[in-house]
Amino acid sequence: MTRILGIETSCDETAAAVVEDGRYVHSSVVSSQVDLHARFGGVVPEIASRAHVELVTDVVAEAMVEAGVDTRDLDAVAACHGPGLAGALLVGVSAAKALALVADLPYVGVNHLEAHLHAAWLEDPALEPPLAVLVASGGHTMTVLMEDHGRYRVVGETVDDAAGEAFDKVARHLGFGYPGGPAIDRLARAGDAAAIRFPRAMPGAADFSFAGLKTAVVNHVRDHPDAALPDVAASFQEAVVDQLVDKLVAAADEADVPVLAIGGGVAANSRLRERVAERAAATGRRAFLPPLALCTDNGAMIAGTAWWQLHRDGPTSLSAGADPNLRLG
Ligand code: KG4
Ligand code: ZN
Repeated sequence: MTRILGIETSCDETAAAVVEDGRYVHSSVVSSQVDLHARFGGVVPEIASRAHVELVTDVVAEAMVEAGVDTRDLDAVAACHGPGLAGALLVGVSAAKALALVADLPYVGVNHLEAHLHAAWLEDPALEPPLAVLVASGGHTMTVLMEDHGRYRVVGETVDDAAGEAFDKVARHLGFGYPGGPAIDRLARAGDAAAIRFPRAMPGAADFSFAGLKTAVVNHVRDHPDAALPDVAASFQEAVVDQLVDKLVAAADEADVPVLAIGGGVAANSRLRERVAERAAATGRRAFLPPLALCTDNGAMIAGTAWWQLHRDGPTSLSAGADPNLRLG
């Protein structure tokens, strides 16, 4: 049995968790800074870094207490080392390294995107690769063929905005706060998804695009000032979800992969979850929809991924830093 502490500070969540053998979550503590950033309409990097510094010690302590462990019970300490905000990443990386050094434990630097891919194992410990995964968050949107742990092929990526960014921008335009995804999701439930036919970008291509859709929504609201907002939200959401689901299924078709999985904050979207489940059933596949708390940023996905990485590649050097632009693969 291997227990790993994972720390996540790449954006606006200060999170820590203890996970056993890459699969079993013993604790997961997430302290969201949403309130600090809401009045600015998005994440302010400098505020995020300072808040991480203030919160990280307590969040780590709470994760250890909740799991009933102290450092002697741990086998490694992991932190997300990219991609993300430079200053924010450094807080988690420094905290993990300090703890590793003091407790004489291996340190593991984990890729945030790889961690979102691995959330599926926290949902089903028996899951076997290959799988086709859609990672959709505030900063990234991509389809990935996960051939094995550590073997990833990016099939398609967004050429402009990320899906979460589109949700956030449209929500802001409609007068809702940050983050916009949950607000649109809620509003859309009372709306008609067929009310307005917004464009589906890049049909047939592996890559994604959301900038034109955002502009179409802005133009529609300008030209129809009395448009019912729930209809606008539902129609916009349907256009995003159509694109996400079509490209995920196309990626799975291309490599004949039997499992569809989703990760990242947008994977918490209720309509996306419904549609992925439907399409999986219609194409004879299994769908992995991690619980909402494991879709948005959390420490458990970092600790879980660290276990696979530690067994595959060994520990990360304490002299390695953080990489805000770290890529997958
Ligand atoms: O993965 P995440 O927590 O942080 C990043 O790595 O970016 O994703 C945050 C993004 C935000 O853009 C937020 O609006 C979006 O995920 N999001 C949602 C929902 N919940 C969060 N988007 C659509 N529907 C939701 N229910
Ligand atoms: Zn994320």
